[in-house]
This record gives sequence, structure tokens and C-alpha cells, in this order.
Amino acid sequence: MKTQKNSNISKFYKRTIQERQTLIQDWSNLENDQIKSLNNSGLEIEDANHMIENVVGRYSLPFGIATNFKINSKDYLIPMVVEEPSVVAACSYAGKLFRDTGGFTAHSDAPIMVGQIQIVDVDNVKATQDILHNNRDKIVAKANEIGGSIIKRGGGAVDIEVRVFSNTSIGDMVILHLLYDTRDAMGANAVNTAVEYIAPYIEEITNKKVNLRILSNLTDKRKAYAEGTVHQENLKTDNLSGEEVVDAIVEAGIFAEVDPYRATTHNKGIMNGIDAVLIATGNDWRAVEAGAHAYAARSGTYSSLTKWTKDENGNLHGRIEMPLAVGIVGGATRVHKNAQIALQILDVSTAQELAEIAVTVGLAQNFAAIRALATDGIQHGHMRMHARQLAVAAGADAFHVASIAQQMIKEKNIRLERAKELVIAYREGANNE
Ligand code: MEV
Repeated sequence: MKTQKNSNISKFYKRTIQERQTLIQDWSNLENDQIKSLNNSGLEIEDANHMIENVVGRYSLPFGIATNFKINSKDYLIPMVVEEPSVVAACSYAGKLFRDTGGFTAHSDAPIMVGQIQIVDVDNVKATQDILHNNRDKIVAKANEIGGSIIKRGGGAVDIEVRVFSNTSIGDMVILHLLYDTRDAMGANAVNTAVEYIAPYIEEITNKKVNLRILSNLTDKRKAYAEGTVHQENLKTDNLSGEEVVDAIVEAGIFAEVDPYRATTHNKGIMNGIDAVLIATGNDWRAVEAGAHAYAARSGTYSSLTKWTKDENGNLHGRIEMPLAVGIVGGATRVHKNAQIALQILDVSTAQELAEIAVTVGLAQNFAAIRALATDGIQHGHMRMHARQLAVAAGADAFHVASIAQQMIKEKNIRLERAKELVIAYREGANNE
């Protein structure tokens, strides 16, 4: 019988990098070579050269692990690649609080993407619409003539939709949507291949000109949802009762629901978590960003992607819903060793499971941010990491980074100049020992 893993790892942050690596290695049966890869960029220069054009090198970011997550009764350690301090710590903290009520629940839609075909110079919209609808089965079958592995895995085109834009500045326009099940791939390539392939056929049956053929990143048929609860008493601070913090978080949520200026920052906090998971797993985070923000504006006013309420027991309840098109096969995951490691750590078996994890991390990250904002303020936690970064930038050796950072925090003087002075002072101190 498989023993249930427990992601609630005490003081993970206090361990050395090597100790954390050993823990991760045991968690996901990583090979020694994979640990070596984590110490490097995970990408061979030759592979990098095949990924994009004009390559001159590689570029590394920190790969961290958020602990404590339980989603749909399964424990996860969450790989996060991000340059911003506090994101991973905040996420782990949130994971812990939600865990106390049984963890998060999440679900997701089937992986249906939309490929768009723009038909222009349409003189009779109704006739064009009818032709497309009448040829639905043929269009779907035609699209499935092309597209390798996704079709083999049971995916492919499943349906069409026809949309009309009348009286645009270029006249009437009909847009054909090809609905395409991409299974465990994000599917951009498959969808783009399919719409390009069927475009001549669409021109032939409609006798109209096709212009663009491309997927839509507003993947609102492929959404992911998560929710969870935090006990009121787990929210109390030195100065505020749990009830006051619940109310303050609900107020913060409403602020983001009604004000696009706040919603933008609120959603940015959500994407701090989601993007970090997407980058770690080699996914196209710009695609998800684009879809998230378009979805956040679907009512006509840009708004929050989450909803925070007080439940009947006075506890805090959070919910998130957004388009989330990700893959666990193809794309960068194929060549990037550290992306493969991230997927191995997550132990996901489908793209839907990955989307459910990512959306949950978004909810957790949002909770951590607005809890901090509604209580101590965000700078409190940020400053510690910022001070450490300045100490490193000032040339502190690994031995002295923490002490120099601590000294600057004590002095409330967190500046590069001060860090440089302290580096010199510590060096002189060390030389005189
Ligand atoms: C910072 O990267 C993210 C926050 O601004 C998000 C928020 O304001 O909710 C803290």
C-alpha cells in the first residue's frame, strides 16, 4: 500500500539547501543527477540554442518549494520559480492555515481550447453562418486529419462555434471557433496547426476570405477552481482578534471586487503564485496571464479573480475561478530538466491536476497577501528578505549575510550603502580574529 505523504514539514526554511534537496529527493525519488541539475540551470546550452533564436547563454532563477499543501486530500510540495522574496514563504504559510480545515478543494474543466478563424468580406452573414453550422461534422473531421500525439491520446477537435461581428470598420465579420480537446498538453501547437490546416477548406465552403488562424488565450472553457477555509482563531494577531482579521480580509476582497486599481494589484498577487508554478513546470505563463486578466474583465469592469466571505461559523472562506491552460507534456517541459523535476515533485498525472494545483496556489498566495496587508502590512516580511538581498549585493559572504541583514533591520536602515559598510566592518572583524 502506498503510504500517504505529508507535506507539513516543520521548519523547512531553516534547513540547509542540501538538507532540503535530500528531503525533496526522498519525496519524489529523484536521481542524484537530478539533484545536480537543480544546482545548475536544468538546461543544456545546446538545448537552449534549439529553444529560441540567437542564444548567447542561459538565465537562472531561484527554485523554491512551498510546503504544507493539501489539495483534494492529497499532499503536495509545490515547486515555485520566482525572483520575488516572500512569495514562497507566504504560500507555505497559507498552505498551513488552510490545511487545518482539511486543505483545499479544487476542480477543473476538460482541457478544451478554442482556435479562431477570422472570415472577412462577408456580404451575407446568415448564409456564411449556415454553411459553417451545416458543415460542422466535416469541419471537425477535417481538423482531426492533422495532429499527431493529441489525437492518439483521445483528444482533437470536438465541436465548432460561430460568432458574428457586424458593422465593424472592415464590414461584417464571422469568426469560427474550433473547439479542441488538448488532453495533457497546453495545446497551442496542436490548435494552431489544426486551424491553419482547415482554413483552405473553410475558404472553399464559404467562398470567403480567411484572415487570422490562431488559438485564443481566453481559455474560458478550460477553467480551474479552488476553495478553502481558514479558522477564525488562526488569524488573530498580537493586535487584532481573529474576527477582526476575517472582517478585514473580507473588506480587502470587496475593495478588489469593486475597484480596478486595487483588482490589478490583488490579481498580481494571485499571479505571483500561479506564475511561479507555471515557470517551474515549463508552462507558458504569459498565456495564462493574458487569459486571467481578460477573464477578470469579463463583466466589463476589471475585477478580482477571488471571492472572500465569512462563513456561518465566522471563519474565512476563499474561492477562485479562472481560465488555466497548462500542459504536462510537450513545450518546454520536454527539454528543461528542472521543469521535469518540478512535475516529478508534484507527482501529477494529468494537465487538469496541474491546473488545479496552480489555481490553488493562486488562492493561497492571494490569502497570504491580503492577510498581511490587512494586518501588519506587506513591508514587514519583505524587508527581511530585502535586507538579505542587499547584504549579498554588497558582497557579504554566505557566513555573514544573515547577521548583516539583521543588523540593518535593527537599525531600521536597510540600504545598500549601509550593507557595504557592514560588509567592510565584518571583514575587518574577521581579519582581526
Ligand atoms: C506584491 O508582489 C503582491 C501584492 O501587492 C499583492 C496584493 O497587494 O494583494 C502584495
